[in-house]
Amino acid sequence: MDDPEGLELSGLIKSVHQRLRDSAKSSDPEVVWKQHVRDGELLKNYADAMHKLATRYWDRTMEVSCKRSNSRIEWVVESCRNYFHGATPLLYLFREKEDKVKKAIDANHHHEYQPYPVGQIKLLDVGSCYDPFVAFPDFDVTAIDIAPAQASVWYCDFLEVEVRRIAEPLKSVEQRVIEVFPGEHYDAIVFSLLLEYLPTPDQRIRCCRKAYDLLKPEGILLIITPDSRHQGANAKLMKNWRYTLALIGFSRIKIEKLEHVTCMVFRRSIFPEVGIRWCEIHREAYMQPVLNIPQDFNETTPASNNDGGKIDFVRTDEDDGEIRNAFAGLPFVDS
Ligand SMILES: C[S@@+](CC[C@H](N)C(=O)[O-])C[C@H]1O[C@@H](n2cnc3c(N)ncnc32)[C@H](O)[C@@H]1O
Repeated sequence: MDDPEGLELSGLIKSVHQRLRDSAKSSDPEVVWKQHVRDGELLKNYADAMHKLATRYWDRTMEVSCKRSNSRIEWVVESCRNYFHGATPLLYLFREKEDKVKKAIDANHHHEYQPYPVGQIKLLDVGSCYDPFVAFPDFDVTAIDIAPAQASVWYCDFLEVEVRRIAEPLKSVEQRVIEVFPGEHYDAIVFSLLLEYLPTPDQRIRCCRKAYDLLKPEGILLIITPDSRHQGANAKLMKNWRYTLALIGFSRIKIEKLEHVTCMVFRRSIFPEVGIRWCEIHREAYMQPVLNIPQDFNETTPASNNDGGKIDFVRTDEDDGEIRNAFAGLPFVDS
């Protein structure tokens, strides 16, 4: 994408992420976040830019290159279908595998399994922006965002929202806000380019823990993270994510590198001990319970020293290259 508008939009998105990370290094990250979600103008600019990029630039690139298999949206849809439906749903294969591990931990283990009931797949899309999954009729989608770019998306800050023992999400229909979520309610939860937005590793872990609470046992969390490096370049980082999520009670069941993203599926284990067992066996010296992204290790940029309202993003040639790599080729399907 050499279009100046497209690059400008990508630059805006990158600068919002960068500024949040920089501010969270020098001030209390919780205060920084609260101020951020109150900045209506900034959120709206971001939402417009993201929506435009996704639907005007990225999916056009995809059409031209015909790389539909590189669409992260379709990757999520196919992964869910293969897991819950299909001739032999993967869910049952992973159930068997988990049962074997549980027996290795506890020789007396016996569990009466029930069939997992799925009609439409109940999917929660966190940080949805423009509700791309609404186009698939076999999904019952709840799309949330702190800056909805589409009327079907509910306002909700996933970092702050409460989880309770209720049957359905508590909604304020007039304001299009979700106030409380029910525990163990969803078959699938999607974090597509969400974790990179959150400025600290602790906030990212908090979101993963919440996803765990909202998923039914054996439900899946699908995480898409930008990755334009060659296959394996971020292997250690991704293994550390696997370790951290296993400690929460997730088993990673799939990882795939597409052109500009790494896509992963984590299963909420019925028995959290299975994840702990994985950690005991596979822990390497570098592994820590932390969710870092490569940008956490960058220097703080002068661009973060501007005033609260306006985006003052000074782009260098190097930034242009980085933006091109990180965002320009990301394939999207239209909403
Ligand atoms: C990079 S965009 C990705 C949008 C979309 N998922 C996609 O893949 O095109 C990240 C989105 O996450 C939203 N977001 C960030 N933090 C959030 C939170 N705590 N709760 C809900 N949405 C959040 C942002 O407003 C933004 O729309």
